[in-house]
Amino acid sequence: MSENMQHDWKHWRLRREDGGLAWLELDKADASTNVLSAEVMTEFGRVLDALDAAPPKALVIASAKPAGFIAGADIEEFSRIASPAAARALVERGWGLFNRLAAVRYPTLALIRGHCMGGGLELALACRYRLVVDEPGTRLALPEVMLGIVPAWGGMLRLPQAVGPATALDLMLTGKAVDARKAKRIGLADDYVPARVMESAARMMALAAAPARRPPLQERLLRLAMNGPLRRVVADKARKQAAAKVSREHYPAPFAIVDIWEKHGGNALAVPAGDPASLEAIFDSPTAKNLVRVFFLQERLKAFGKESDFAPRHVHVVGAGVMGGDIAAVCALRGMTVTLQDQSVERIAPAIQRAARLFERRHKGDARQVRFTLDRLIADPEGHGAARADLIIEAIFEDLAVKRSLFAELERRARPEAVLATNTSSLRLEDIASALQDPSRLVGIHFFNPVPMLPLVEVVAGEATAAEVLRRATGFVRRIDKLPLPVKSAPGFLVNAVLGPYMLEALRCVEEGIAPETVDAALTAFGMPMGPVELVDTVGLDIAVAAGKALAGSGAEPPARLLKLVAAGKLGRKSGEGYYRWQDGKVVKTAAEGGKRAGAPAPAVPAGLAERVLAPLLAATERCVREGVVGDTDLADAGVIFGTGFAPHTGGPLNLLATRGKASALPG
Ligand code: NAI
Repeated sequence: MSENMQHDWKHWRLRREDGGLAWLELDKADASTNVLSAEVMTEFGRVLDALDAAPPKALVIASAKPAGFIAGADIEEFSRIASPAAARALVERGWGLFNRLAAVRYPTLALIRGHCMGGGLELALACRYRLVVDEPGTRLALPEVMLGIVPAWGGMLRLPQAVGPATALDLMLTGKAVDARKAKRIGLADDYVPARVMESAARMMALAAAPARRPPLQERLLRLAMNGPLRRVVADKARKQAAAKVSREHYPAPFAIVDIWEKHGGNALAVPAGDPASLEAIFDSPTAKNLVRVFFLQERLKAFGKESDFAPRHVHVVGAGVMGGDIAAVCALRGMTVTLQDQSVERIAPAIQRAARLFERRHKGDARQVRFTLDRLIADPEGHGAARADLIIEAIFEDLAVKRSLFAELERRARPEAVLATNTSSLRLEDIASALQDPSRLVGIHFFNPVPMLPLVEVVAGEATAAEVLRRATGFVRRIDKLPLPVKSAPGFLVNAVLGPYMLEALRCVEEGIAPETVDAALTAFGMPMGPVELVDTVGLDIAVAAGKALAGSGAEPPARLLKLVAAGKLGRKSGEGYYRWQDGKVVKTAAEGGKRAGAPAPAVPAGLAERVLAPLLAATERCVREGVVGDTDLADAGVIFGTGFAPHTGGPLNLLATRGKASALPG
């Protein structure tokens, strides 16, 4: 019988069975997903009161939502926190409530199906048992670090206890998720079961009331040693792991997690104010605010796909090169049937081989799934698929005349309602569209290289593109789990238009005699994922020249060294040499000038270098907003972050410009 009648609970439902087992279900009111808002947490305290008053024989905590268990804290609410004191109070409430849950005398079990993130996992960790449902949607993670914060509701205390400190720190420092089987393997879950038996399995496990899972003897001895000097060793290793990716100045949270585990028993509240790992320090750094901003920017891009339920079953891709091959592979991975056309089977074969390797990685060696996915990717040298496809994507050479004649033919053969899309980087959409009887059918779907890695896809509206075609193209981008950014047809759209002048400025610095290593070191220190000169080498020097011409028109002269290198066939990574030498696809930088080799001295970066190279990028981003290439400043920041990896801790280029007056966000 439900006890809710006796209480005024909005979000929790408590039901007691005759045998004494109680079921507590979270069903957050007016929401499709469970999040731990202030109200949900306060009410949870009252539920614990009710259980204290009449303790059950055992308690199972589950979700009433089909969407999953609990997605975490309420980030919207979190983003409105205005003072360090309020942040501390928020931590105190969660830490206190979950400690209370962990201390109850009756056995408690979290029955986890679907996502179980952040505060949701911290709640589950406070239960004696965790039973997970073995299905693809089940994912457990403490992703707080991605928002620049720390899992302070007991995660830093209990995850190390459950899975051992090394694994726990790895999970907390990366924010990565584990599935049901891995959760069991590492000791995070006591067991996994198929959905159809989850309730009876939960009932049995909770009522059997076995002692909480004890790690094996070897593991227990190791943990004992962890109270001694080994703790320091593990902490230092985790710090190194974090420092290899980010700096403490830009990303305090991962370093704070290690400190809090090592020195404060996982209790963030025990860290004195003034310590760099304190809640105040984390809250005061702009990083957390900016990363929360990035999270909401991502949500905004995701929402664009909601306007259309277009879910192409069959995609036809023309051009099996670098881009077309990978676009086809990504569509097949998402369950679509894909026909891949090129001038001959020989040109398609390498793309299929590359796809097979991708499928193996993504399906983690599950041979059956790899087979099924490969079966959906069909080599189609004759282009028969064009007549059946719901969507046709063109990714052939960047040649206007060839693209025009291809589209004229595709239009004749395609189904009348099929969407026609081009992946062109630099041609005017209108110039291609005018080859069609109905130019309103053509849309740009502009991917970035490497397609499987980069989340952003620009959806390009030409002057004639029909609104419904744009909606469908956007819907498709979401169906393959990418982030669609609506842009207007203009040279370079958004991402290349801002990257071009940035790379050019970096090459000008090199032209003036600054070493490429020094230029790159300045920008990676700022927080770019890769230096601009290395980026030019990666993209290809020939492409950089062509893109420069297309973007700058006849005005700007390409740097002399760039032209000389191209003339000598030194095209960058693909030819083995450009501004750098490349070995097995990896860049070789000289140690003296700041190579990544151990012990290499950091290069002396001239003051203002990063600022100088970034200035044209910031200006180009502003210009794109002014000229309406993107809808607004937030979308521009979103595009530049997800399209180029632009330092996320800044919240994006325009956010950086807006806040620069308040703090010196730029080095130099
Ligand atoms: P690619 O040279 O690797 O591949 C082009 C493929 O198209 C070749 O396999 C070629 O045989 C095939 N092809 C040419 N004409 C054809 C025709 N009439 N019918 C069938 N197949 C034909 O070129 P990539 O780099 O994949 O670029 C393709 C398109 O994607 C271009 O429009 C480019 O601007 C655009 N793009 C390229 C990016 C990059 O980083 N490479 C990034 C984003 C867009």
